[in-house]
Formats: sequence, structure tokens, C-alpha cells
Amino acid sequence: MLELISPNFSDLLKPNLQLGKFPDGDSHVHLPPIPAGKQEITIFHRLYPHQNDSIVELLLILGSLVSDGHRVSVVVPYLPYARQDKKKMDGEVKSAEALCDLLHRAGCAKLITFDCHFLNAEGPAEYGGLAIENLSMGEALIEHAKKIFGLEPFEVIGPDGGAAYLVKNWGGKHLTKVRGEYDANSAHKQRHIESLTGDMGVKGKNVLILDDMISSGSTMARALEMAREQGAEKIGCAATHGLFLHNALDKLQKVADFVFSSDTIVSSRAEVSIKARLTDHLQGGAKLF
Ligand code: R5P
Repeated sequence: MLELISPNFSDLLKPNLQLGKFPDGDSHVHLPPIPAGKQEITIFHRLYPHQNDSIVELLLILGSLVSDGHRVSVVVPYLPYARQDKKKMDGEVKSAEALCDLLHRAGCAKLITFDCHFLNAEGPAEYGGLAIENLSMGEALIEHAKKIFGLEPFEVIGPDGGAAYLVKNWGGKHLTKVRGEYDANSAHKQRHIESLTGDMGVKGKNVLILDDMISSGSTMARALEMAREQGAEKIGCAATHGLFLHNALDKLQKVADFVFSSDTIVSSRAEVSIKARLTDHLQGGAKLF
């Protein structure tokens, strides 16, 4: 298998392709020499934080390799647009499906990603015609929390139904979240949380709140406050994808004893690497390609 590594993966692997910009803003891609004949190629490319440019770069790379006859899979640790998987109003585009369809049509044989928002289980799936392998960081995040809690036991709680599969293997419960309509006065598309309910059963216990992502931090902040109100002792929170928009990190650090994420997105709180899980999948999963 041939690996093409984007510069935005340089924290984990040595880049071997070059990305740049023309003066007018067009993307420029320079691939390394590819051996003759049909190759099995895996592209490692982050699509966040500059999602729109990064998606175009990926489509250019895919287009070139596929038209040369290669079989190409892509590793995208965090899939942007994944939360736009439902139409909330007439005319709204289901962008998650549209993006997967685009990658499929561009010839992507498989998308390997982590804790993808619109999937509710680890493993192979198909969405928008695209074959996806959804890897989970649940176990690695919980192992990291064990080190922080030391020898003390702790409960694992998901803040909503989307996090159910992340917590269920650890006997964890999840809360029920109801979001309202889009906030009319918000410059950004944002839906406020109408309610977060559930009995955590955490009185006198340590708690880890675990979610697929922390974006504005509103969900996590509400869950942390609930845990405090319900009498929890030490409280930590973690997510696979730490976007930490605006003042999310400050907000969470005021309530939580600790906050961390995996490095699907690079940040100061990315304490758990995806590399071991990825390597394990790619090496153990030779038959999958
Ligand atoms: C949504 O259902 C996800 O599982 C997360 O709970 C959500 O996307 C987090 O967003 P925010 O940090 O903006 O509340």
C-alpha cells in the first residue's frame, strides 16, 4: 500500500505531498512520483480547520489518482459537515450526504474516519454511496481518563443519544438532549439546547462525560453542570473531536476538573493520539482494502 501524507498530518506522519496556493487563491497540489501500474493508495489528509479548502485539495488529489487508474482510500480523522445529516427546514441541503456523495463520485474507495457524527456504531458503514470505516476513540479516551483519575473509580456518561455507542461498552448511561430551532438572531447557524435530562446517578462519584465532539461546548457545559447539581465528586470531560469554538475551553474548564480530546483535531487539549488506533486498523485490516 502506498501512503500519501498531507502536510496537515505532519504531527503524526512524515508528509510526502505538497500543498500550496496560486496567487488568486486556487489550490495547488504536487504529488510525489507514483510507481507504474495500478496502486492501492491511502491518502492521509485532515479536513479541519480549513474545511472548504481542504475538501477541494482532497478532491484534486483523488481526481488525479483515480483517473490514473489507482484504487484510493482516504483517512480523514474528523469529517466536517457530518452534523448536517438532517433537513431542519425546506430547501436546506443535507450537506453530510452531499459531501459523501461527492467523495464517492470522485472515486474514493473508502473513507476511514473517527466517531463520525451520523453513524451510531464503530465499524464499516455506507452513507451517500460512500464506503466508510468508522473507528472509535472511546476506549483510548477512557483509558486516558483512568490515568487522570488514578486508582479512583468513575462513571462514564454520554450527554446525548449520539454518544450512546461511545459509552455503552463501559456500562455508561446517556442523557437526552432536545435542541430548539435555529436561533433567529444568531449570525451562525446554531440551535440552542432546549433541555438536557436524565438521572446520572452520580452522587458522591467521579464522572467522565464523553461525547463525539465538543464544538461550542454548550452540550458539555450543560452536562457538567448537571453532574455538579446531582452531587458528583471529581468531574472530567472528553471528546473525540475537540473543536473548542470561541470560549468553549474556558467555559468548560470553569466547571470541569479536566478537559481533553483526541488529536483528530490539533489543539492544546488533544492529549490522546489516534495513531495507534489508525495503525492497528490499517495493519490488521489489510483484507479490508
Ligand atoms: C451532537 O449531537 C453531538 O454529539 C455533540 O453533542 C454536539 O455536536 C456538541 O456541540 P456543542 O459543543 O456545540 O454543544
